[in-house]
Amino acid sequence: MTTSSAPGKVYLFGEHAVVYGEPAVPCAIERRARVTVEARDDDRVSVRADDLTLDGFTVAWGGEADDRPDVDVPTPLVEAAMGYVDGAIERAREAAEAPAAGFDVTIESDIPLGAGLGSSAAVVVAGIDAATRELGVELDPAEIADLAYQVEYEVQEGQASRADTFCSAMGGAVRVQGDDCRQIRDVPNLPFVVGYDGGSGDTGQLVAGVRTLKEEYGFAADTVEAIGDVVRSGEAALEDGDVEEVGRLMDFNHGLLSALGVSARSLDSMVWAAREADALGAKLTGAGGGGCVVALDRTEQTLTALEYTPGCEEAFRAELDTDGVRVEA
Ligand code: PMV
Repeated sequence: MTTSSAPGKVYLFGEHAVVYGEPAVPCAIERRARVTVEARDDDRVSVRADDLTLDGFTVAWGGEADDRPDVDVPTPLVEAAMGYVDGAIERAREAAEAPAAGFDVTIESDIPLGAGLGSSAAVVVAGIDAATRELGVELDPAEIADLAYQVEYEVQEGQASRADTFCSAMGGAVRVQGDDCRQIRDVPNLPFVVGYDGGSGDTGQLVAGVRTLKEEYGFAADTVEAIGDVVRSGEAALEDGDVEEVGRLMDFNHGLLSALGVSARSLDSMVWAAREADALGAKLTGAGGGGCVVALDRTEQTLTALEYTPGCEEAFRAELDTDGVRVEA
């Protein structure tokens, strides 16, 4: 039996624009998905997940994989979740040259599903690590990031950047631009506060919406490029250890994402609550449409303000997690 875990992430800068070749800076946070894998005698895969915000589901499926879990959540979310696990197992089988390996898989996660915190990437990354180790193969985190990206790319039908999977596999703050993925060293202390509206956005639809706007309006294309400029300034601010400037640029980034139509009333309310609480900066994180915002605040004020904001279901502090994927004792 092998248990591996991998962190979720927030986007400090650059979601959506990263799809069009601009850089993005995601940061791993200390909220993890843990995947436990135990080899079976047959070639079947059984998956148990109790706290994926999917209200708990258990499913066993074999090679043909028609079975789907019987749970009261939107089918696309369940199918996507199963697709990620399926993909992780398939990649692990290939990497270990064990095409007929069967597993009992248990997933536990404290990352809300589909909320912009990289839950699926964390499950895929931890799943590939646990399943390959269970088959006696140890991959390095960069290889796991690559395999996990392939899974996300397939499940999300081509609408995926390497940002989530690379960040989850490597940990810390990273910079992703196309296929160029790097860790950013020596980042200053970033006092993250996350607000979660309890919902999620449809990433595919939101990405498609931005694409349409960008094709239709030159100024929407300029907005995407402007996000790239904000990210580059943000990288410089990070390098200088200027957290105040990082915050101001996050505010700017949120405004540009809003202009591209990917914010939501709940996200805007949380962003404004953070601003009024004197956060250094605040923005939505991930695809948008619903889910989470991330703010920077060294004091307790933003956390308290979010807790009293209508539409905010949960607010929590999140430390930067410098550990990426790791095997658990
Ligand atoms: O909501 P998330 O965490 O899956 O992030 C989506 C980020 C996008 O830039 C919109 C898409 C991508 O794959 O980079």
